[in-house]
Amino acid sequence: MRKAMKVGFVGWRGMVGSVLMERMASERDFDLFRSRFFSASNQGATAPAVQGGEARLHDANDLATLGECDAIVTCQGGDYTAAVHPRLRGAGWRGYWIDAASTLRMNEDAVIVLDPLNRDLIRSAVARGVRDCIGGNCTVSLMLLAMHGLLKAGVVEWVSAMTYQAASGAGAQHMRELLQQMGYAYESVRDQLADPGSPILQIDRVVSEALRSAALPHENFGTALAGNLIAWVDRDLGDGVSREEWKAGAEANKILGRPAMGTPGSLIVEGICVRIGAMRCHSQALTIKLSQDLPLSQIEDLIAGANEWVEVVPNTRNDTIARLAPAHVSGRLRIAVGRLRKLAMGAGYLSMFTVGDQLLWGAAEPLRRMLRMLLDLQD
Ligand code: HSE
Repeated sequence: MRKAMKVGFVGWRGMVGSVLMERMASERDFDLFRSRFFSASNQGATAPAVQGGEARLHDANDLATLGECDAIVTCQGGDYTAAVHPRLRGAGWRGYWIDAASTLRMNEDAVIVLDPLNRDLIRSAVARGVRDCIGGNCTVSLMLLAMHGLLKAGVVEWVSAMTYQAASGAGAQHMRELLQQMGYAYESVRDQLADPGSPILQIDRVVSEALRSAALPHENFGTALAGNLIAWVDRDLGDGVSREEWKAGAEANKILGRPAMGTPGSLIVEGICVRIGAMRCHSQALTIKLSQDLPLSQIEDLIAGANEWVEVVPNTRNDTIARLAPAHVSGRLRIAVGRLRKLAMGAGYLSMFTVGDQLLWGAAEPLRRMLRMLLDLQD
């Protein structure tokens, strides 16, 4: 039965798609179904050589060949989803659409997939006919995995999430631009830096001018990220809230199967989302209001035991610097959680800092696990 399933892949060459391909290859996922690869520009060319894969690339806009797939996994982006998904569904296709883009996430007939937290919710959605299985916003998924133990224990009253989001969340070109900006800033003071006697305020003045200069590479970010930060992520919703901040509350409640944020029974998640000069790990400083004033050791045990990816980092300077950092977590599936401390605001106030790779658990991993779940459900 499993071998008969045909899975189509779209957008597998981009950044999230490439991470997904790597993860699927290393978990031998391709052994479990037949694969068909699509391309928007290169149909007929040789497809990636995977176990059970078709030899040639198909046209990503050809509804007939897409429609032959039992499941389609797309990392092609929201424009592709908006253009193709309605036409495919309109033509009567009933397969599984597994998507990294946000386009369909909040639709009534879509489930947001983060199976360590909502496996049962996904199962019952699929059982009642839901076929659009969408990966969550990276920041939201990483936050929920970090807080999983507290959510499971039912002790979270509200969360304030202040984020430190990596360049990768904005796209591959943004990562390149961040590095170009770093290089530009360095070049502007290269000679002074080589002279240990040169005054630091002089160096700072030149770098500041470089970061404000029109010649700084800024086509993607629109401003400097290197040596700077950007206190706005995603679109302006016009009410003082960024779309990234809105997603935190909207998606978290949907993933957890709770009522919409702000309504009784929902989890309140508020915060400010900030872009910083990290490459691919999103970090978040959380203030969590617990409904019970649990001992810190119990809190640590709950968090550490909730899933196999969370790694609790002791709240010391050395451990924090070494292990609770984007440079350390990058490229790994672990969700680092640290700076756990009771706060002086009163009983039940907890601080937490968490770091996770936004391309792995933030994007690719929930999608490949959804595919695995479908295979299990079909057995
Ligand atoms: N919106 C996120 C960001 C990326 O800009 O960092 C993926 O959800």
